[in-house]
Amino acid sequence: LRLDSIVPWGRNLAEYQAMFNLSADELKTSRILGCGDGPASFNVEASALGADVISVDPVYQFSAEQIRSRIEAVSDTIEKQLSENRDHYLWTHFASPQALVEQRLATMDLFLADYADKQHTDRYQCQCLPDLDFDNDRFDLALCSHYLFLYSEHITEKAHLDAIHEMLRVAGEVRIYPLVTLRSDISPHLQPVIRHFEQLPCHVQLKPVSYTFQKNATQMLLISRN
Ligand SMILES: C[S@@+](CC[C@H](N)C(=O)[O-])C[C@H]1O[C@@H](n2cnc3c(N)ncnc32)[C@H](O)[C@@H]1O
Repeated sequence: LRLDSIVPWGRNLAEYQAMFNLSADELKTSRILGCGDGPASFNVEASALGADVISVDPVYQFSAEQIRSRIEAVSDTIEKQLSENRDHYLWTHFASPQALVEQRLATMDLFLADYADKQHTDRYQCQCLPDLDFDNDRFDLALCSHYLFLYSEHITEKAHLDAIHEMLRVAGEVRIYPLVTLRSDISPHLQPVIRHFEQLPCHVQLKPVSYTFQKNATQMLLISRN
């Protein structure tokens, strides 16, 4: 993985709670794995509340300073792209591309301070889907925000299935959001993935969520093992 090929961008705890319908009780009692958490502040904020959270992401092979310099290098371009593609988004939660970028930078500052301090502890692990170095059932809940389905042009249907099987091996329940692509179209992999897991001893549900930003991104996918 090359540092100049990644676009680090992270969301906060309130956003994770809204994207995944995560209740305060679930946060308190579940062993949670965040897959592809990147520079999100979910882990540091949830841990501060006593939650048991481990984040995995290939970007954790880099130092806090390397990630910070990459964030600084890409944030202007992201703001420009958001402005150019304004119509793909609902500007209710965020008033403008500038307001969004400001909040993201504050979120990532929280992550960076924690990561610089704690990067050698277990909470941030450099691991990648579809191969996780955890025992079966190590977690109650695996979350995957803004990785699967969003990058459907680059991640094949088989890679989606492999990633979800692996998350279901280490956690009894998997939640994924969003289910749309970067163009805010429903991912072409969604129905094949649903059909695949419906044929297995799994419970598959589409759940409405309160998070709003990308158009059409109104639901999360929840898959649990029976
Ligand atoms: C758009 S970011 C989302 C970050 C965070 N989940 C959030 O919503 O704020 C996508 C993340 O997926 C990570 N990623 C890329 N390939 C991955 C893989 N094979 N397994 C797990 N994460 C991966 C990237 O490094 C990046 O941090």
